[in-house]
Amino acid sequence: MNELMSHTADMGQAEMFSKAWYNEYFRRAAESPTHSRFCEAVYGINLCQHGMMDTDEMDFLASLLKPGEKVLEIGCSNGHITEYLHEKSGCNILGLDYADAAIAQAQERTRDKAAALNFQSVDLIHDELPGCDYDVILAIDSIYFMGDYNRTLAKLNARLRPGGRMIIAAFQAKEEHDSDTILLAGHTRVDQALQTLSYRYVQHDFTPNIRNHWIKNYEFSRKLQSDFAAEGNAFLCEARMAENGWFKDHAERGTLVRFLYVIEDNANIGLC
Ligand SMILES: C[S@@+](CC[C@H](N)C(=O)[O-])C[C@H]1O[C@@H](n2cnc3c(N)ncnc32)[C@H](O)[C@@H]1O
Repeated sequence: MNELMSHTADMGQAEMFSKAWYNEYFRRAAESPTHSRFCEAVYGINLCQHGMMDTDEMDFLASLLKPGEKVLEIGCSNGHITEYLHEKSGCNILGLDYADAAIAQAQERTRDKAAALNFQSVDLIHDELPGCDYDVILAIDSIYFMGDYNRTLAKLNARLRPGGRMIIAAFQAKEEHDSDTILLAGHTRVDQALQTLSYRYVQHDFTPNIRNHWIKNYEFSRKLQSDFAAEGNAFLCEARMAENGWFKDHAERGTLVRFLYVIEDNANIGLC
């Protein structure tokens, strides 16, 4: 279990980050005006986010995607980010998530874009990944939930076409037992996995963005707490507060970094 999951494991609610929990989260978030205001204030745009990617990072990511590319996105939630990336880049995306309530929202909303946008409910740990020959496999703040990084990256890599690439957005925090170098480019846990696998990659630093993100996340969850409660959505606010104190402390101590890893040209021979 990584640091994101372990520090929130005991919040007195049913299994935070479980499928049922995420279904509850996205059922409420999709209908909540206060959640929209929260996302607008914290991320710079309301895409019903539950990750850490702001608009600067998302627009940079969109610039890496090309028209007509076949993209697989893992952990797409209710697909607003997926749709945004498609609109910006013209790529075709299959989005996967185990929160079937969120997937149903995405399918319903994008019904008339099915030539380019599709969504499927898949458990990334227990189910087979659908399809192969992807130009790009994308994971925005979802790799944490898939278990061992080496195994996950190898599993995803096998679904790329030869010459395809993976794009992984992930944070790294330094906790007491970690070495001093864990926060440096080339030394995070994702770096270590990529190096073990001998994958070639570049990484782009979004550390100032993520530190800013968590300070705003903390601030706006408190500013909007009574509005969330007035809508009957205290759950959404509590969900944010359960993690933003821990992250804000790391942001303020300078023990939190974020990178967008672009992994390419790694001699994948493809599955099909
Ligand atoms: C932190 S959220 C990030 C969502 C979105 N990418 C974003 O940046 O806002 C993680 C997402 O991964 C999904 N997820 C977690 N574990 C999963 C699993 N085992 N299989 C499929 N999806 C999973 C959750 O349902 C959730 O939508």
